[in-house]
Amino acid sequence: MNTTLEQTTSVWMQTGEIPVQAALTADVSADVCVIGAGIAGMTTAYLLLQEGRSVVVLDDGPIGGGQTERTTAHLSNAIDDRYVAIEGWHGQEGARLAAESHTAAIDRIEVIVARENIECDFERLDGYLFTPLGESSDLLQQELHAARRAGLSEVELVDRSPLASFDTGPCLRFPRQAQFHPRKYLAGLTTAILRKGGRIFNQTRAEHVESGPPARVRTSQGRTVTAASVVVATNTPFNDFVTIHTKQAAYTSYVVGFVVPRGSVPRSLYWDTLNPYHYVRLQALPSDGSAGERLGDPLTEELLIVGGEDHKTGQADDAEERCRRLEEWTRGRFPVTGSIRCRWSGQILETIDGLAFIGRNPLDGPNIFIATGDSGQGMTHGTIAGILLTDLIVGRHNPWTALYEPSRKTLRAAERFLQENLNVALQYSSWLTGGDVASTNDIAPGTGAVVRRGLTKVAACRDEHGQLHECSAVCPHLGCLVDWNPLEHTWDCPCHGSRFDQQGHVLCGPANSDLARIREV
Ligand SMILES: Cc1cc2nc3c(=O)[nH]c(=O)nc-3n(C[C@H](O)[C@H](O)[C@H](O)COP(=O)(O)OP(=O)(O)OC[C@H]3O[C@@H](n4cnc5c(N)ncnc54)[C@H](O)[C@@H]3O)c2cc1C
Ligand code: FES
Repeated sequence: MNTTLEQTTSVWMQTGEIPVQAALTADVSADVCVIGAGIAGMTTAYLLLQEGRSVVVLDDGPIGGGQTERTTAHLSNAIDDRYVAIEGWHGQEGARLAAESHTAAIDRIEVIVARENIECDFERLDGYLFTPLGESSDLLQQELHAARRAGLSEVELVDRSPLASFDTGPCLRFPRQAQFHPRKYLAGLTTAILRKGGRIFNQTRAEHVESGPPARVRTSQGRTVTAASVVVATNTPFNDFVTIHTKQAAYTSYVVGFVVPRGSVPRSLYWDTLNPYHYVRLQALPSDGSAGERLGDPLTEELLIVGGEDHKTGQADDAEERCRRLEEWTRGRFPVTGSIRCRWSGQILETIDGLAFIGRNPLDGPNIFIATGDSGQGMTHGTIAGILLTDLIVGRHNPWTALYEPSRKTLRAAERFLQENLNVALQYSSWLTGGDVASTNDIAPGTGAVVRRGLTKVAACRDEHGQLHECSAVCPHLGCLVDWNPLEHTWDCPCHGSRFDQQGHVLCGPANSDLARIREV
């Protein structure tokens, strides 16, 4: 599971190093085994160590090699799905707890950064939410009232954002938001975890989790971790086959980075209310001689990061067009100089009711926990996971438990549940169609296509050297057919977002095994 193997690289991957740890080569035991070294797993490990628990962290790839290195790292309590919707799904008290928990997550990151002396460009700033040009601001009025009912009394409606380059019109100002460099933050957490006696193993895939007690985690190399509790923080849980995946859907989002003259764009977070919406922030360029300096001149320029153009994973193959639209949107509004300096894509898990699933894994032993369903706010949801799961494991009351309970049934989100599951059911109809191309001879170097072969379908791609790689197109999770992703050169499953590299190795769950290999020609 290693998005580092995809074609694009984020600015964080180019400018932040995290020390790689050795693989697990012996059986070990600990109070808690955390699977997944993204922001959710690493925060949980850090906070459990602070409580005196012994912790082992396993990751199939490097630390931060999942979606955490593909984020834009807006740290915000301005919930992406909007407070109006959160209140509708979870009630006024639920919206209040959502606001409280996201605010607490930003505060907790700030405390950890200070306590551990982590140089990760953490910065407090305001966030501005605006409607598209020409649209009424009624939606903002409603959101203002809902945010205030949720306890965010300082949110205010202002005439326009501080941007001079374009008039956003009226917008909501959310004070005390933040941003940071996610890989530098994880590098700091790594140092702190190791110093506190935590053990982290890379290149170690957890294959099977048994609740016991004690719980046992079996790795693909045949090693066992024995623990009182297990936290599965793998972005999407591989140990939950169906339940959670009917309540969340995988979306692909795109990000482009441009240089702008330093100081020309006021330092804030920006979002519009389109669906899918645009999200914007700035990032200073490194001046330490690292590779990132090539992105621009750190003395006179900084990076403007703009994301959006989301679609359901595996259900669109027009990435170039989406990046072009992002570019056009940005050039029309910001003082961009030159061409795109970096671009990347990543995956977001949208739950049917706008909030993450954090807590005991449904239908499993009481000592197996999950953190998933980032809803585009995985930096704060991942930190909430660290706080909440630590409380659950040490047996401390936490007021957010019911709100994030993974087995919750949000009746008021039934319509979204039906829509997403109908969409999944429709994906199985691709079993009945022909292939994308008639023969593998039609596949050019650097591209891939699904080819029908008798009753089954084959995922075939030709690498840059002309070599053909063939795997089964059948996703090992629940049997949907994968689709070629022309930007990342991956095979993406349109049902629940499992992704595989060109040779069929699994990159993202819920699948936890590779596409069946056919041959190399
Ligand atoms: C383009 C984009 C923009 C975003 N913007 C924002 C934003 O502005 N603000 C925000 O809050 N959130 C944002 N997000 C969401 C956020 O980045 C993610 O939700 C978050 O990084 C997920 O962290 P995680 O720890 O849950 O998962 P990950 O970072 O994916 O970590 C999971 C880890 O588990 C490992 N793993 C998986 N399976 C196994 C296994 N079987 N055995 C061992 N290890 C395994 C993987 O290798 C990986 O390292 C964005 C996401 C994207 C893609
Ligand atoms: S991810 Fe569920 S079938 Fe592929």
